[in-house]
Amino acid sequence: MSAVAVIGSQWGDEGKGKITDYLAEKAEMVVRYQGGNNAGHTVVVDDKEFKLHLIPSGILYPEKMCVIGNGVVIDPEVLCKELAYLEKEGINTDNLRISLRAHLIMPYHIRLDELEEERKGVNKIGTTRRGIGPAYMDKAARVGIRVVDLMDEKEFADILQRNLEEKNHVLQKIYGVEGFKFEDIFNKYRSYLARIEKYITDTTAVINEYIEQGKKVLFEGAQGTLLDLDHGTYPYVTSSHPVAGAACIGAGIGPTKIRRVIGVVKAYTTRVGEGPFPTELLGEEGELIRKRGWEYGTTTGRPRRCGWLDAVILNYSARINGMNGCAITKLDVLDSLAKIKVCVAYEYRGQVIKNFPASLKALAECKPIYEEFEGWQTDTTKARSYEELPAKARQYIEGIAEIIKVKPVIIAVGPKREQTIFREEIF
Ligand code: GDP
Ligand code: IMO
Ligand code: MG
Repeated sequence: MSAVAVIGSQWGDEGKGKITDYLAEKAEMVVRYQGGNNAGHTVVVDDKEFKLHLIPSGILYPEKMCVIGNGVVIDPEVLCKELAYLEKEGINTDNLRISLRAHLIMPYHIRLDELEEERKGVNKIGTTRRGIGPAYMDKAARVGIRVVDLMDEKEFADILQRNLEEKNHVLQKIYGVEGFKFEDIFNKYRSYLARIEKYITDTTAVINEYIEQGKKVLFEGAQGTLLDLDHGTYPYVTSSHPVAGAACIGAGIGPTKIRRVIGVVKAYTTRVGEGPFPTELLGEEGELIRKRGWEYGTTTGRPRRCGWLDAVILNYSARINGMNGCAITKLDVLDSLAKIKVCVAYEYRGQVIKNFPASLKALAECKPIYEEFEGWQTDTTKARSYEELPAKARQYIEGIAEIIKVKPVIIAVGPKREQTIFREEIF
């Protein structure tokens, strides 16, 4: 049994795509289990950059099975575009599998996401406006439309009709905007189905079969622990569960099947969207990290907010996910710095706290307490083994490991496949 979950330990964009692609070489199947095309996972292969939003990062290897699990919300238009993009790049997509039980993002979900953000004004969440929240709302409200429903022409027409009655009422009467026409959506979605039908199956059966046969299965988390609906900085979160435990529900496997949880830890912290961020650097240092790390959203192009590494967050994340290994990414981005800080605790109303607070008001009042590390001021991008890293870079890594009590098993020193140092077999 060899199932491994790769999850984001911070606010997303830790480099999950790169780490998944790296580990996919040894895996036989890669599974997305939550989120949708709010995700933007970048993989660089031989100087060519691929940006994936819905299809698992394993797709770049021709022989790997790639699964979009039941926990994912699928915008079929985006999926069709992503398939076309990959095929244009010469990537074979025959090994894709799509769950019958996954919910669909509908055009009204996207519109409602936009309208709700605008209505909230200064209190907006800063969503990716891809309809993610409204699609998961419908799933929980038991009015969502699943892939299996789309496949049954009459069933799809019925559910769509019922949904449109309600959604158009809300759009027209509450938001004062135009509604959607049944025929437009119906015809479009049926044409998307024609394109993706060959991939649709009971993915739970396929995934469990692989696991039972002892094949190596990789679960590719999207977003990050602090964006988790339960465990993140609510309400500034996404509407799914990026944590490792969600792989069970979002893929339909038992908790006994996951052997390793690799938390992807960016060597500093970033966040897109609104919400408190204790170690945020608003001045020149933040700008330097943003420029060197090219911290601009893969999905929306927004500049990412940047700050020092926060070990209070990492400790919390290690616990919530049961991490038993971590991948430290973007170490090279810190190469030029003379001093590097890591937040080891917060000061809250005169007290030192190490537990990540549930209250956002409290979090906004928390002041980071830093431990300072010496910068290595050496180029690390050419290091290919742990020993080749400068001693001070190793001290930084070991310092983090000691604070969070999780072994760094992979170190990334650049976006390319070969810019990866691995210290232990993962599967
Ligand atoms: P994800 O959403 O977690 O998959 O991360 P993104 O792809 O949104 O953002 C990570 C960005 O950093 C991408 O542009 C990657 O190509 C890049 N990247 C990943 N690992 C490294 C690294 O170790 N060093 C550098 N310089 N860039 C990296
Ligand atoms: P990957 O997989 C970073 C953020 C949005 C917003 C909040 C809610 O590339 O790490 P949503 O559209 O999901 O309702 O937005 O979540 N967000 C991400 N931030 N990386 C992501 O994905 C994200 N997906 C959503 O910016 O703050
Ligand atoms: Mg991303």
